[in-house]
Amino acid sequence: MKNRIYFFTGTGNSLKVAKDIAKALPNCELVAIYKDTLLEIPSGYERIGFVFPNYAGGPPSMVANFVRKMKFSDQSDTYIFCVATYAGNNGAVISQMGNLLQKRGLQLNYGAKIISYPNALTAYPMPIEVNDILKKAEINTKPVIDSIVAKQHIPISNLEESDKEKYDKFIALIQNSNSGYDVNDDCISCGICRDVCPAKNITLEDGKPVFHHQCECCMACIQHCPKRAINYENKTQDRERYTHPDIGHKVISQYYMHQDVKSNDNS
Ligand SMILES: Cc1cc2nc3c(=O)[nH]c(=O)nc-3n(C[C@H](O)[C@H](O)[C@H](O)COP(=O)(O)O)c2cc1C
Ligand code: SF4
Ligand code: SF4
Repeated sequence: MKNRIYFFTGTGNSLKVAKDIAKALPNCELVAIYKDTLLEIPSGYERIGFVFPNYAGGPPSMVANFVRKMKFSDQSDTYIFCVATYAGNNGAVISQMGNLLQKRGLQLNYGAKIISYPNALTAYPMPIEVNDILKKAEINTKPVIDSIVAKQHIPISNLEESDKEKYDKFIALIQNSNSGYDVNDDCISCGICRDVCPAKNITLEDGKPVFHHQCECCMACIQHCPKRAINYENKTQDRERYTHPDIGHKVISQYYMHQDVKSNDNS
């Protein structure tokens, strides 16, 4: 039987986890959640997973909207799991996802959170302990993979109203979160920012990126720019950039071009 993992990523932490889980499952497809993801989910999957970063105690807006709109037939025999990467404060991310799935008549069977590198560059400087943090993420991923392989069921707590406040505020403001972005003269018109944007929110006009206010706040453009030419207000000029060392911009952007499904390759 086949397995499928839907993933969302900005800086690669979640794609790394999704790839590691996919490697441990037979016949596992990796599908990016991005602007043009097909909503139809064929039946007959043994497992369907969602792997994404925690944003303000919930899934990215695009992941939540995918779950709201996805089209599927009978999934009663499918084991459904989610894994959220996060930086240290996970909130009610698993309950949020469980709640979204429940509204579609689906039961989340397993949810896990994996601490990873904090990537919100517009909010804080990037910590220097990259290797230590990523080692910890790798160690914490192993038991999660074992649980998913074994199709372990865990109870998912109910979502409380108070859990939703911070997340709902974040979601309400998200689309315009690129409005403080500015591109300086170091830009070499390479197009990487456009290619890694899951929202297809960036076009190059006269060689320079233009943002169209459909932002997911994923940090991919600002973090992957090889010239550090994108900055947020006056906050990020002196901050280091971070992307997961195993997941470069080409690895991410290939999932947004022409192809929605990839079997578990090691690229
Ligand atoms: C907009 C935004 C909001 C975030 N909110 C939280 C948060 O509330 N708690 C937390 O622990 N980490 C938070 N993070 C950090 C990410 O969840 C974490 O770095 C994640 O591993 C990034 O995954 P990615 O590399 O796949 O994009 C946030 C990051 C962004 C960009
Ligand atoms: S990634 Fe950076 S250098 Fe490349 S087009 Fe975008 S802003 Fe310019
Ligand atoms: S514009 Fe930048 S931060 Fe916004 S969704 Fe696209 S890549 Fe992510």
